[in-house]
Amino acid sequence: MTDAISRTVPRMAEKIASIDALCARARIMPVITIAREEDILPLADALDAGGLQVLEITLRSPHGLSAIRRLRQERPHLCVGAGTVLDRQMLAAVEEAGAQFVVSPGSTDELLRAALESPLPLLPGVASASEIMLGYALGYRRFKLFPAEVCGGVAALKAFAGPFGDVRFCPTGGVGPANLQHYMALTNVMCVGGSWMLGNTQGWDAVRQASAEALALLDR
Ligand code: 3PG
Repeated sequence: MTDAISRTVPRMAEKIASIDALCARARIMPVITIAREEDILPLADALDAGGLQVLEITLRSPHGLSAIRRLRQERPHLCVGAGTVLDRQMLAAVEEAGAQFVVSPGSTDELLRAALESPLPLLPGVASASEIMLGYALGYRRFKLFPAEVCGGVAALKAFAGPFGDVRFCPTGGVGPANLQHYMALTNVMCVGGSWMLGNTQGWDAVRQASAEALALLDR
């Protein structure tokens, strides 16, 4: 029996429920590109100490896959997803590395269809109504709005609530302390993503503090 046959592929409804659960836990999802291997654990620990436990590790650096592998082994209480997954090959690689969810900056038919066969839930990137419709036709109901501020931000999300009443978003790109409350006040936003809290990765306590402060804004 091959891996492709033996692995369990949840139905879309179950994947949507997993995304809802992890976004509810996250509220803010750091988008992390690991520049140096030695940063992986202290950076994750600083975010964790600040209250952020659902992490998107991008494949934009050569350390992305090893970071996912390492965090899954050494920090099993964190929820570790893979970001910047662009195609079927990258999807297979992050599955193998142990990612718990997958995020893409945009939507291609190839990736959307490949993810239907994957055990992992995909949060596909969208920037327009047409892209939402591509995913919607395949059963997707949860999307990353990217780059959120550039493609219309809060106003775009309010407009999408009309035609796509059962769709929810994780806006990412230009989100930060100045606007995250506006995003989170929308009923079709489940969490926000961003990299502002990572700041200068030399200062782990600054990362912890920026994370905690951002979460505190949501409790006001
Ligand atoms: C992403 O890829 O999601 C972005 O790099 C995160 O956006 P930000 O850097 O504007 O927070």
